[in-house]
Amino acid sequence: MTNPVTTSTTEIVLPGVVDPSGLQVCARELPVPVAGQVVLRMEATGVSFAEQQMRRGKYYDQPPFPFVPGYDLVGTVTAVGPGGDTDLVGRRFAAVTKIGAWATHVLVEAADLVPVPDGVSPAAAETVVVNGITAWQMLHRLAKVRSGNVVVVLGANGGVGSTLVQLARHAGVRVIGTASPRHHDAVRALGATPVDYREPGMYHRVRALAPDGVDAVFDHVGGPGVERSWQLLRRGGTLVSYGTAATKDEAGNSRLPVLKLFAQLKLWHTLPNHRSAYFYNFWAGHRNLAAFRRNLAQDLTQVFRLLADGVLDPQIAAEIPLAEAASALTLAESRTVAGKVILVP
Ligand SMILES: NC(=O)c1ccc[n+]([C@@H]2O[C@H](COP(=O)([O-])OP(=O)(O)OC[C@H]3O[C@@H](n4cnc5c(N)ncnc54)[C@H](OP(=O)(O)O)[C@@H]3O)[C@@H](O)[C@H]2O)c1
Repeated sequence: MTNPVTTSTTEIVLPGVVDPSGLQVCARELPVPVAGQVVLRMEATGVSFAEQQMRRGKYYDQPPFPFVPGYDLVGTVTAVGPGGDTDLVGRRFAAVTKIGAWATHVLVEAADLVPVPDGVSPAAAETVVVNGITAWQMLHRLAKVRSGNVVVVLGANGGVGSTLVQLARHAGVRVIGTASPRHHDAVRALGATPVDYREPGMYHRVRALAPDGVDAVFDHVGGPGVERSWQLLRRGGTLVSYGTAATKDEAGNSRLPVLKLFAQLKLWHTLPNHRSAYFYNFWAGHRNLAAFRRNLAQDLTQVFRLLADGVLDPQIAAEIPLAEAASALTLAESRTVAGKVILVP
């Protein structure tokens, strides 16, 4: 049985390089799902750093304008394509879309759906979709942290950062987290020791907290500071670089800072110095789609379980209606929030 009825959707369109106020609210009929697809009625989506880069035309592989942003969402299936599993209808799932999730209804491949456990609210689940997968994979698939390790998380108040801190603490890892002072209480409440990233002596302060060096540094800032991150590592330590936030507002080619960073990490990793350096890319391995989906579902399911069990405290910075996406993006970019800004229908 299929549901061939079309669905109206309201979407937020990013028309070009614009201020948040330049986002447009548009309505259209969604095509009926084809075989393998479902329609998800969005219950929560959110603002990731990616959208902040995309509106500047600075995201590494964004599509040409105009497009609908929205990296991930949580929603309920309202229709399935021909031959699809009708038992999916009425059930709540999460999916990572990279773009397109800022909409009331979204077409998604059924194979990309990950079930949200009962008792977990859509907004809570949304805080750990791309953030939770990213944090889990960096901790457990790349850095392979162990109980007793000490790690540094840059931007411990952010969406990924606050999830990283909590997952690391759950794994028995001591965390030093950088954040601006306004977030230090929040970072402490997550179980990390806060350090002010604006303080000129920040790296000395980290050194004082971990005189023997640290087992891993999670660095989404890039720029010249990545060298300081590398120097914090002890023998056997791992630098996990996963962004270039520092260059978000730089003019010029958006790929250049990333490519320079890749080259630097590769060099460090290759030299015989008993330390490792990686760039974590969420989409790595996407060419082997079946394995990519399997890992993603496995990792997100573990994170959802920790959320359902109360181990993770969802960091919701604000819940804002989708139609007010412009204010949500402004808020996320204000550098005042802790956790994730969530968009709701
Ligand atoms: N490689 C991947 O596959 C992958 C996947 C997911 C995310 N990411 C990266 O992860 C990072 C965090 O993403 P998110 O969605 O969690 O973002 P978010 O919630 O907006 O948090 C951003 C964090 O970065 C800090 N920050 C912002 N601008 C900065 C700058 N210019 N210099 C230093 N710190 C800055 C913020 O601190 P303040 O609040 O003090 O401004 C905050 O702690 C981003 O860089 C994103 O690109 C990478």
